[in-house]
Amino acid sequence: MTQTIAIIGAGYVGVPLADTFGQAGHSILLVDVQPDRVDQLNRGESYVEDVPSERVKELVDAGRLRATLDYDELPNADSILIALPTPLSDQREPDLSIVLDATRGIAQRLKKGQLVVLESTTYPGTTRESLKPILEDFNLAFSPERVDPGREDWTTTTTPKIVGGLTQACTQRAVELYETALETVLPVSSPEAAELTKLLENIFRSVNIALVNELAQLCDRMDLDVWEIVDAAATKPFGFMRFDPGPGLGGHCLPVDPFYLSWKARQYDFYTEFIELAGKVNANMPYFCRSLLSQAMNHGRELSLKGSKILLLGVTYKADVRDTRESPALKLIELLRNGGAEVYYHDPHVPELPKHGLSSVALEPAEYDCVAIVTAHSSIDYERVVEEAPLVVDFRNATGRKGRVNGKVWKL
Ligand SMILES: NC(=O)c1ccc[n+]([C@@H]2O[C@H](COP(=O)([O-])OP(=O)(O)OC[C@H]3O[C@@H](n4cnc5c(N)ncnc54)[C@H](O)[C@@H]3O)[C@@H](O)[C@H]2O)c1
Repeated sequence: MTQTIAIIGAGYVGVPLADTFGQAGHSILLVDVQPDRVDQLNRGESYVEDVPSERVKELVDAGRLRATLDYDELPNADSILIALPTPLSDQREPDLSIVLDATRGIAQRLKKGQLVVLESTTYPGTTRESLKPILEDFNLAFSPERVDPGREDWTTTTTPKIVGGLTQACTQRAVELYETALETVLPVSSPEAAELTKLLENIFRSVNIALVNELAQLCDRMDLDVWEIVDAAATKPFGFMRFDPGPGLGGHCLPVDPFYLSWKARQYDFYTEFIELAGKVNANMPYFCRSLLSQAMNHGRELSLKGSKILLLGVTYKADVRDTRESPALKLIELLRNGGAEVYYHDPHVPELPKHGLSSVALEPAEYDCVAIVTAHSSIDYERVVEEAPLVVDFRNATGRKGRVNGKVWKL
């Protein structure tokens, strides 16, 4: 049976969810606070890479997708999915204010017995301790979003969906809803189990990335090529999973989510040491990369950072997306500027970085003292970069050169 589904938060999570449920025949109401996003969606334009504009347009034209700024339209929805940001505060503690303010807005407008599902990543206990008191008379569940922006082999529709309701009836309602649009829906025993499942997945990545990042720093001292070693280890068909080193974590998830759990754990007199250690190693990577760049400039070109022109190639937190949130490139810009360098960037996905007063420049590698590959977008011709630049520092192994230093290419 088709429903009207309201999705609060039309971002990297909300828009693919809207697409998935819209394609399954439901009517979608996307609610956001940014008027330009609402207007774009209503014109049939998508600003999320994973959802082509044609698909949004198709749904808008068929009258099955509409965006609004107005919470007063919520009573028309049968179910509500919350896909709002869950950032950290300046003190690096969970900041649930966006989710809780929106939940109060929902509570004032909905009819009793409606289904509300929280999809935002958060610590175990949020749904029961913070949402339930506001949404006492609703069916409530938590179902973590697992979307990986830019990934094409697994989508919102095909990635198995974990669902944990406050009661069995809540779980059942949520499972039935997701089963109308998603291929695999897996109920767990509680919202807490679903909340912690999502955090485990992200902490697993953060810890493993920290492990290879630490190894990359040791390899630098031992004059070994960490990429050769990761490539070789990855040939083992079992018992090893590949993670690549890099200039640091970015995006909305990995630099933030693990600390939701370490904060909650303290309530239980428990210290999550893996999370803290991984956070420390990963946060140090932009500093390590700055030193590497400086060393490459000294040894490779007898230049110091001060007064040099450096081009950062790629500023998004990962390849082929346009998201710059928490990107290590932003930290590198700051660190290189502190060192007196003149910093420029080229990124086909990011025309401007207004907070840094920068716009993407044309890719003319010969015009700079050094080109640093920070994000390995697939559209870049790295051979040309190596050919034309006087010095290349490659934090992503995009050049594929063997050895830690090979001619004018220095690798992490
Ligand atoms: N981006 C990812 O890859 C990803 C993957 C899995 C889970 N998550 C989690 O999903 C949640 C959402 O993340 P996202 O990346 O989609 O965020 P996002 O910033 O891309 O989107 C959030 C949207 O919510 C809107 N918004 C803010 N306050 C609002 C309000 N009061 N009412 C209505 N709309 C409001 C914003 O304008 C924005 O469009 C987070 O908890 C995140 O951790 C994200």
